[in-house]
Amino acid sequence: MKNILIGVTGGISAYKSANIISKLKKKGYNVKVIMTENATKIITPLTLETLSRNRVYVDMWDKNPHFEVEHISLADWADVVLVAPATYNIVGKVANGIADDMLSTVISACKKPVYFALAMNVNMYENPILKDNIEKLKKYGYKFIEADEGFLACNVNAKGRLKDENEIIEIIEKDNIYREKVLTGKKILITAGRTEEAIDPIRYLSNRSSGQMGYALAKSAVDLGAEVVLISGPTNLEIPTGVKEFVQVRSAQEMYDETIKRFSKMDIAIACAAVADYKPKYYSNEKIKKKDGELTIVLDRNPDILLEMGKLKKEQILIGFAAETENLIENAIGKLERKNLDMIVANDASNMQKSTNEIYIIKGKDSIKSLPEKKKEELAYDILMNI
Ligand code: C5P
Repeated sequence: MKNILIGVTGGISAYKSANIISKLKKKGYNVKVIMTENATKIITPLTLETLSRNRVYVDMWDKNPHFEVEHISLADWADVVLVAPATYNIVGKVANGIADDMLSTVISACKKPVYFALAMNVNMYENPILKDNIEKLKKYGYKFIEADEGFLACNVNAKGRLKDENEIIEIIEKDNIYREKVLTGKKILITAGRTEEAIDPIRYLSNRSSGQMGYALAKSAVDLGAEVVLISGPTNLEIPTGVKEFVQVRSAQEMYDETIKRFSKMDIAIACAAVADYKPKYYSNEKIKKKDGELTIVLDRNPDILLEMGKLKKEQILIGFAAETENLIENAIGKLERKNLDMIVANDASNMQKSTNEIYIIKGKDSIKSLPEKKKEELAYDILMNI
Protein backbone atom coordinates (compact mmCIF):
# COMPACT_ATOMS: atom_id res chain seq x y z
CA MET A 1 0.00 0.00 0.00
CA LYS A 2 1.67 3.19 -1.16
CA ASN A 3 -1.06 5.39 -2.61
CA ILE A 4 -3.92 6.43 -0.39
CA LEU A 5 -6.87 8.37 -1.71
CA ILE A 6 -8.68 10.28 1.03
CA GLY A 7 -12.29 11.29 0.57
CA VAL A 8 -13.44 14.10 2.84
CA THR A 9 -17.17 14.68 3.22
CA GLY A 10 -19.03 17.50 4.95
CA GLY A 11 -19.30 16.29 8.54
CA ILE A 12 -18.12 18.69 11.23
CA SER A 13 -15.15 16.38 11.88
CA ALA A 14 -13.86 17.08 8.36
CA TYR A 15 -11.16 19.17 10.04
CA LYS A 16 -9.73 15.95 11.49
CA SER A 17 -8.88 14.76 7.99
CA ALA A 18 -5.98 17.23 8.08
CA ASN A 19 -4.44 15.24 10.91
CA ILE A 20 -4.96 11.92 9.12
CA ILE A 21 -3.34 13.25 5.94
CA SER A 22 -0.41 14.71 7.84
CA LYS A 23 0.20 11.45 9.73
CA LEU A 24 0.01 9.40 6.52
CA LYS A 25 2.51 11.69 4.78
CA LYS A 26 4.90 11.39 7.74
CA LYS A 27 4.66 7.60 7.36
CA GLY A 28 5.78 7.95 3.75
CA TYR A 29 2.53 7.31 1.86
CA ASN A 30 1.48 9.19 -1.26
CA VAL A 31 -1.78 10.92 -0.50
CA LYS A 32 -4.34 12.48 -2.82
CA VAL A 33 -7.55 14.08 -1.61
CA ILE A 34 -11.06 14.47 -2.96
CA MET A 35 -13.41 16.74 -1.05
CA THR A 36 -17.14 17.11 -1.42
CA GLU A 37 -18.44 20.61 -1.97
CA ASN A 38 -19.86 20.59 1.59
CA ALA A 39 -16.50 19.58 3.10
CA THR A 40 -14.90 22.72 1.64
CA LYS A 41 -17.23 24.79 3.85
CA ILE A 42 -15.60 23.22 6.94
CA ILE A 43 -11.95 23.02 5.95
CA THR A 44 -10.29 24.70 3.00
CA PRO A 45 -8.85 22.69 0.12
CA LEU A 46 -5.67 24.74 0.49
CA THR A 47 -5.01 23.20 3.93
CA LEU A 48 -5.34 19.66 2.62
CA GLU A 49 -3.43 20.51 -0.55
CA THR A 50 -0.51 21.80 1.52
CA LEU A 51 -0.52 18.75 3.82
CA SER A 52 -0.91 16.17 1.05
CA ARG A 53 1.43 18.06 -1.29
CA ASN A 54 -0.99 17.28 -4.10
CA ARG A 55 -3.82 19.03 -5.85
CA VAL A 56 -7.16 18.55 -4.08
CA TYR A 57 -10.09 17.50 -6.25
CA VAL A 58 -13.58 18.88 -5.66
CA ASP A 59 -15.24 19.71 -8.93
CA MET A 60 -15.69 17.16 -11.71
CA TRP A 61 -15.55 19.92 -14.29
CA ASP A 62 -12.27 21.52 -13.29
CA LYS A 63 -9.86 22.17 -16.15
CA ASN A 64 -7.76 19.06 -16.52
CA PRO A 65 -4.25 19.83 -17.70
CA HIS A 66 -3.31 16.15 -18.26
CA PHE A 67 -6.18 15.23 -20.60
CA GLU A 68 -6.81 12.14 -18.49
CA VAL A 69 -10.25 11.01 -17.44
CA GLU A 70 -9.64 12.17 -13.92
CA HIS A 71 -12.12 9.99 -12.02
CA ILE A 72 -10.76 6.91 -13.74
CA SER A 73 -7.11 7.80 -13.22
CA LEU A 74 -7.65 8.55 -9.51
CA ALA A 75 -9.54 5.29 -9.03
CA ASP A 76 -6.65 3.42 -10.70
CA TRP A 77 -3.94 5.35 -8.85
CA ALA A 78 -5.29 4.49 -5.37
CA ASP A 79 -4.22 1.32 -3.56
CA VAL A 80 -6.79 2.12 -0.88
CA VAL A 81 -9.58 4.67 -0.54
CA LEU A 82 -10.40 6.07 2.89
CA VAL A 83 -13.46 8.26 3.32
CA ALA A 84 -12.97 10.11 6.61
CA PRO A 85 -15.26 11.42 7.83
CA ALA A 86 -17.94 9.48 5.98
CA THR A 87 -21.38 11.07 6.36
CA TYR A 88 -24.84 9.52 6.22
CA ASN A 89 -25.07 11.09 2.78
CA ILE A 90 -22.01 9.50 1.12
CA VAL A 91 -22.93 6.05 2.45
CA GLY A 92 -26.46 6.51 1.12
CA LYS A 93 -25.22 7.65 -2.27
CA VAL A 94 -22.75 4.81 -2.80
CA ALA A 95 -25.27 2.23 -1.54
CA ASN A 96 -27.80 3.42 -4.08
CA GLY A 97 -25.59 3.82 -7.09
CA ILE A 98 -25.52 7.59 -7.15
CA ALA A 99 -22.42 9.20 -8.62
CA ASP A 100 -23.13 12.91 -8.80
CA ASP A 101 -19.85 14.46 -7.70
CA MET A 102 -16.13 13.71 -7.88
CA LEU A 103 -15.95 11.59 -4.71
CA SER A 104 -18.99 9.38 -5.33
CA THR A 105 -17.96 8.98 -8.97
CA VAL A 106 -14.39 7.89 -8.13
CA ILE A 107 -15.70 5.43 -5.52
CA SER A 108 -18.10 3.95 -8.06
CA ALA A 109 -15.22 3.50 -10.54
CA CYS A 110 -12.79 2.04 -7.99
CA LYS A 111 -12.01 -1.64 -7.59
CA LYS A 112 -9.61 -1.20 -4.64
CA PRO A 113 -10.56 -1.51 -0.95
CA VAL A 114 -12.78 1.38 0.16
CA TYR A 115 -13.12 2.26 3.86
CA PHE A 116 -15.79 4.50 5.33
CA ALA A 117 -14.85 5.99 8.72
CA LEU A 118 -18.31 6.94 9.97
CA ALA A 119 -19.03 10.19 11.80
CA MET A 120 -22.39 11.88 12.22
CA ASN A 121 -25.14 12.97 14.58
CA VAL A 122 -26.29 10.15 16.86
CA ASN A 123 -29.84 10.05 15.48
CA MET A 124 -28.53 9.76 11.94
CA TYR A 125 -26.12 7.09 13.16
CA GLU A 126 -28.99 5.08 14.60
CA ASN A 127 -31.25 5.55 11.59
CA PRO A 128 -32.18 2.11 10.20
CA ILE A 129 -31.74 3.42 6.66
CA LEU A 130 -28.02 3.89 7.37
CA LYS A 131 -27.86 0.40 8.87
CA ASP A 132 -29.49 -1.07 5.73
CA ASN A 133 -27.09 0.84 3.49
CA ILE A 134 -24.10 -0.38 5.48
CA GLU A 135 -25.29 -3.99 5.33
CA LYS A 136 -25.77 -3.71 1.60
CA LEU A 137 -22.33 -2.18 1.03
CA LYS A 138 -20.62 -4.74 3.27
CA LYS A 139 -21.97 -7.45 0.94
CA TYR A 140 -20.09 -5.77 -1.90
CA GLY A 141 -16.87 -5.70 0.11
CA TYR A 142 -16.92 -2.10 1.36
CA LYS A 143 -15.38 -1.72 4.80
CA PHE A 144 -16.63 0.36 7.71
CA ILE A 145 -14.80 1.92 10.61
CA GLU A 146 -17.36 2.41 13.37
CA ALA A 147 -17.75 5.76 15.07
CA ASP A 148 -16.75 6.12 18.73
CA GLU A 149 -18.81 7.35 21.60
CA GLY A 150 -17.95 10.83 22.78
CA PHE A 151 -19.04 14.41 22.98
CA LEU A 152 -20.61 15.32 19.64
CA ALA A 153 -20.93 18.68 17.94
CA CYS A 154 -24.69 18.46 18.54
CA ASN A 155 -24.02 18.82 22.29
CA VAL A 156 -24.68 15.26 23.43
CA ASN A 157 -22.47 12.46 24.64
CA ALA A 158 -23.24 9.61 22.26
CA LYS A 159 -22.01 7.42 19.45
CA GLY A 160 -21.08 9.27 16.29
CA ARG A 161 -17.61 10.69 16.82
CA LEU A 162 -14.94 9.91 14.24
CA LYS A 163 -12.64 7.17 15.53
CA ASP A 164 -9.25 8.33 16.74
CA GLU A 165 -7.01 9.20 13.76
CA ASN A 166 -4.22 6.83 14.81
CA GLU A 167 -6.66 3.95 15.17
CA ILE A 168 -8.11 4.61 11.70
CA ILE A 169 -4.63 4.51 10.20
CA GLU A 170 -3.80 1.36 12.16
CA ILE A 171 -6.89 -0.45 10.85
CA ILE A 172 -6.06 0.40 7.25
CA GLU A 173 -2.40 -0.48 7.59
CA LYS A 174 -3.13 -3.81 9.22
CA ASP A 175 -5.44 -4.85 6.39
CA ASN A 176 -3.36 -3.62 3.51
CA ILE A 177 0.32 -3.87 4.22
CA TYR A 178 2.07 -5.61 1.40
CA ARG A 179 4.92 -7.72 2.64
CA GLU A 180 7.69 -8.86 0.40
CA LYS A 181 8.14 -12.61 0.75
CA VAL A 182 11.67 -12.35 2.13
CA LEU A 183 11.58 -15.80 3.76
CA THR A 184 10.65 -17.77 0.64
CA GLY A 185 12.36 -21.16 0.66
CA LYS A 186 13.35 -20.93 4.33
CA LYS A 187 12.34 -23.65 6.77
CA ILE A 188 11.42 -22.28 10.18
CA LEU A 189 10.66 -24.25 13.32
CA ILE A 190 8.77 -22.42 16.04
CA THR A 191 7.95 -23.72 19.52
CA ALA A 192 4.98 -22.04 21.16
CA GLY A 193 2.65 -22.12 24.13
CA ARG A 194 3.10 -23.62 27.56
CA THR A 195 3.85 -27.19 28.53
CA GLU A 196 1.88 -29.28 31.01
CA GLU A 197 3.74 -31.62 33.36
CA ALA A 198 1.43 -34.32 34.61
CA ILE A 199 1.23 -35.14 38.31
CA ASP A 200 -1.55 -37.70 37.98
CA PRO A 201 -4.24 -38.37 35.32
CA ILE A 202 -6.02 -35.16 36.32
CA ARG A 203 -3.48 -32.64 37.67
CA TYR A 204 -0.53 -30.95 36.06
CA LEU A 205 2.01 -28.16 36.59
CA SER A 206 2.06 -25.39 34.02
CA ASN A 207 2.43 -21.63 33.52
CA ARG A 208 0.50 -18.62 32.25
CA SER A 209 1.82 -18.52 28.67
CA SER A 210 -1.02 -18.04 26.14
CA GLY A 211 0.96 -18.97 23.03
CA GLN A 212 -0.02 -15.73 21.26
CA MET A 213 3.53 -14.63 20.50
CA GLY A 214 4.58 -17.98 19.00
CA TYR A 215 1.40 -18.24 16.91
CA ALA A 216 1.85 -14.64 15.71
CA LEU A 217 5.41 -15.54 14.67
CA ALA A 218 4.14 -18.59 12.79
CA LYS A 219 1.51 -16.55 10.98
CA SER A 220 3.94 -13.78 10.12
CA ALA A 221 6.55 -16.28 8.88
CA VAL A 222 3.92 -17.86 6.60
CA ASP A 223 3.03 -14.38 5.28
CA LEU A 224 6.70 -13.78 4.53
CA GLY A 225 6.86 -16.98 2.48
CA ALA A 226 8.53 -19.40 4.93
CA GLU A 227 7.79 -23.11 5.35
CA VAL A 228 6.70 -23.21 8.97
CA VAL A 229 6.72 -26.08 11.46
CA LEU A 230 4.82 -25.08 14.59
CA ILE A 231 5.36 -27.26 17.64
CA SER A 232 2.86 -26.22 20.23
CA GLY A 233 1.91 -27.00 23.77
CA PRO A 234 -1.74 -26.58 24.83
CA THR A 235 -3.30 -23.20 23.90
CA ASN A 236 -6.77 -21.88 23.09
CA LEU A 237 -5.62 -20.52 19.74
CA GLU A 238 -6.53 -21.50 16.21
CA ILE A 239 -3.79 -23.07 14.13
CA PRO A 240 -2.58 -20.31 11.77
CA THR A 241 -3.49 -21.05 8.16
CA GLY A 242 -0.65 -21.90 5.81
CA VAL A 243 1.53 -23.64 8.41
CA LYS A 244 3.32 -26.59 6.73
CA GLU A 245 3.32 -28.85 9.77
CA PHE A 246 1.55 -28.44 13.09
CA VAL A 247 2.66 -30.69 15.94
CA GLN A 248 0.58 -30.77 19.11
CA VAL A 249 2.47 -31.71 22.27
CA ARG A 250 1.76 -31.59 25.96
CA SER A 251 4.91 -32.08 28.07
CA ALA A 252 8.36 -30.56 27.78
CA GLN A 253 9.76 -34.02 27.00
CA GLU A 254 7.36 -34.40 24.05
CA MET A 255 8.24 -30.93 22.82
CA TYR A 256 11.94 -31.80 23.14
CA ASP A 257 11.55 -35.03 21.14
CA GLU A 258 9.51 -33.45 18.33
CA THR A 259 11.82 -30.43 18.10
CA ILE A 260 15.17 -32.21 18.15
CA LYS A 261 13.92 -34.70 15.55
CA ARG A 262 13.37 -31.89 13.03
CA PHE A 263 16.05 -29.37 13.96
CA SER A 264 18.82 -30.49 11.55
CA LYS A 265 16.60 -29.82 8.52
CA MET A 266 15.77 -26.25 9.54
CA ASP A 267 17.24 -22.92 8.48
CA ILE A 268 15.85 -21.05 11.46
CA ALA A 269 14.52 -22.16 14.85
CA ILE A 270 12.66 -19.88 17.25
CA ALA A 271 12.07 -21.17 20.78
CA CYS A 272 9.14 -19.13 21.95
CA ALA A 273 7.46 -21.77 24.12
CA ALA A 274 7.31 -21.35 27.88
CA VAL A 275 8.73 -24.76 28.66
CA ALA A 276 8.50 -26.06 32.20
CA ASP A 277 11.96 -26.37 33.70
CA TYR A 278 10.78 -29.07 36.11
CA LYS A 279 8.37 -31.98 36.05
CA PRO A 280 7.05 -34.19 38.85
CA LYS A 281 9.61 -36.93 39.45
CA TYR A 282 6.96 -39.58 40.10
CA TYR A 283 3.81 -39.77 38.02
CA SER A 284 0.89 -41.33 39.86
CA ASN A 285 -1.21 -43.62 37.64
CA GLU A 286 -4.15 -43.11 39.98
CA LYS A 287 -5.65 -39.82 41.11
CA ILE A 288 -3.80 -38.70 44.27
CA LYS A 289 -6.25 -38.83 47.20
CA LYS A 290 -6.35 -36.03 49.72
CA LYS A 291 -5.08 -36.83 53.20
CA ASP A 292 -4.44 -34.83 56.34
CA GLY A 293 -1.23 -32.83 56.44
CA GLU A 294 1.20 -31.72 53.74
CA LEU A 295 1.80 -33.25 50.36
CA THR A 296 5.26 -33.11 48.85
CA ILE A 297 5.80 -33.34 45.12
CA VAL A 298 9.41 -33.98 44.17
CA LEU A 299 10.48 -32.32 40.91
CA ASP A 300 13.01 -33.39 38.33
CA ARG A 301 14.72 -31.25 35.71
CA ASN A 302 13.26 -31.24 32.19
CA PRO A 303 15.59 -31.20 29.21
CA ASP A 304 16.39 -27.69 27.95
CA ILE A 305 15.29 -27.78 24.31
CA LEU A 306 16.96 -24.54 23.31
CA LEU A 307 20.24 -25.40 25.02
CA GLU A 308 20.29 -28.69 23.11
CA MET A 309 19.58 -26.95 19.78
CA GLY A 310 22.46 -24.57 20.60
CA LYS A 311 24.77 -27.57 20.95
CA LEU A 312 23.54 -29.21 17.73
CA LYS A 313 23.55 -25.98 15.74
CA LYS A 314 25.48 -25.89 12.44
CA GLU A 315 24.22 -23.43 9.81
CA GLN A 316 20.95 -22.69 11.57
CA ILE A 317 19.98 -19.33 12.97
CA LEU A 318 18.78 -19.88 16.52
CA ILE A 319 16.55 -17.52 18.45
CA GLY A 320 15.43 -17.75 22.05
CA PHE A 321 13.09 -15.81 24.30
CA ALA A 322 13.67 -14.56 27.81
CA ALA A 323 10.72 -13.64 29.98
CA GLU A 324 12.05 -12.21 33.22
CA THR A 325 10.73 -10.50 36.30
CA GLU A 326 14.09 -8.83 37.16
CA ASN A 327 17.42 -7.87 35.54
CA LEU A 328 15.90 -8.40 32.12
CA ILE A 329 18.79 -7.41 29.84
CA GLU A 330 21.50 -9.00 31.99
CA ASN A 331 19.66 -12.31 32.22
CA ALA A 332 18.86 -12.30 28.52
CA ILE A 333 22.49 -11.71 27.52
CA GLY A 334 23.49 -14.55 29.85
CA LYS A 335 21.09 -16.90 28.04
CA LEU A 336 22.20 -15.70 24.62
CA GLU A 337 25.77 -16.71 25.44
CA ARG A 338 25.09 -19.85 27.46
CA LYS A 339 22.66 -21.33 24.92
CA ASN A 340 24.77 -20.39 21.86
CA LEU A 341 22.03 -18.23 20.31
CA ASP A 342 22.18 -15.74 17.45
CA MET A 343 19.48 -13.56 18.90
CA ILE A 344 17.28 -13.36 21.98
CA VAL A 345 13.99 -11.54 22.47
CA ALA A 346 13.66 -10.25 26.02
CA ASN A 347 10.47 -9.12 27.65
CA ASP A 348 8.98 -8.59 31.06
CA ALA A 349 7.10 -11.70 32.21
CA SER A 350 4.09 -9.54 33.10
CA ASN A 351 3.18 -9.36 29.38
CA MET A 352 2.67 -13.12 29.13
CA GLN A 353 -1.12 -13.19 28.71
CA LYS A 354 -1.55 -9.80 27.04
CA SER A 355 -2.09 -9.23 23.32
CA THR A 356 0.63 -6.57 23.30
CA ASN A 357 4.25 -6.68 24.38
CA GLU A 358 7.28 -4.44 24.77
CA ILE A 359 10.53 -6.17 23.83
CA TYR A 360 14.27 -5.95 23.43
CA ILE A 361 15.94 -7.63 20.49
CA ILE A 362 19.42 -8.59 21.58
CA LYS A 363 22.16 -9.99 19.33
CA GLY A 364 25.04 -9.32 21.74
CA LYS A 365 26.22 -6.90 24.42
CA ASP A 366 26.62 -4.16 21.81
CA SER A 367 23.48 -4.89 19.86
CA ILE A 368 20.39 -4.19 21.95
CA LYS A 369 17.31 -2.78 20.26
CA SER A 370 14.28 -1.62 22.24
CA LEU A 371 10.85 -1.90 20.61
CA PRO A 372 7.93 0.04 22.14
CA GLU A 373 4.64 -1.59 23.15
CA LYS A 374 2.85 -3.03 20.10
CA LYS A 375 0.48 -5.81 19.19
CA LYS A 376 2.15 -9.22 19.19
CA GLU A 377 1.35 -9.61 15.45
CA GLU A 378 3.35 -6.50 14.67
CA LEU A 379 6.21 -7.50 16.94
CA ALA A 380 6.29 -10.88 15.18
CA TYR A 381 6.97 -9.12 11.90
CA ASP A 382 9.68 -6.95 13.51
CA ILE A 383 11.34 -10.00 15.07
CA LEU A 384 11.41 -11.89 11.76
CA MET A 385 12.80 -8.88 9.90
CA ASN A 386 15.57 -8.67 12.50
CA ILE A 387 16.41 -12.32 11.90
O1 C5P B 1 16.71 -20.39 30.50
P1 C5P B 1 15.29 -20.11 30.21
O2 C5P B 1 14.42 -21.31 30.34
O3 C5P B 1 14.71 -18.96 30.95
O4 C5P B 1 15.31 -19.67 28.67
C1 C5P B 1 14.17 -19.37 27.99
C2 C5P B 1 14.29 -19.82 26.57
O5 C5P B 1 14.63 -21.22 26.55
C3 C5P B 1 13.00 -19.74 25.79
O6 C5P B 1 13.36 -19.46 24.45
C4 C5P B 1 12.41 -21.12 25.93
O7 C5P B 1 11.56 -21.44 24.84
C5 C5P B 1 13.62 -22.00 25.97
N1 C5P B 1 13.50 -23.21 26.80
C6 C5P B 1 13.59 -24.44 26.21
N2 C5P B 1 13.53 -25.57 26.96
C7 C5P B 1 13.39 -25.51 28.31
C8 C5P B 1 13.28 -24.26 28.92
C9 C5P B 1 13.34 -23.13 28.13
O8 C5P B 1 13.71 -24.52 24.99
N3 C5P B 1 13.30 -26.61 28.99
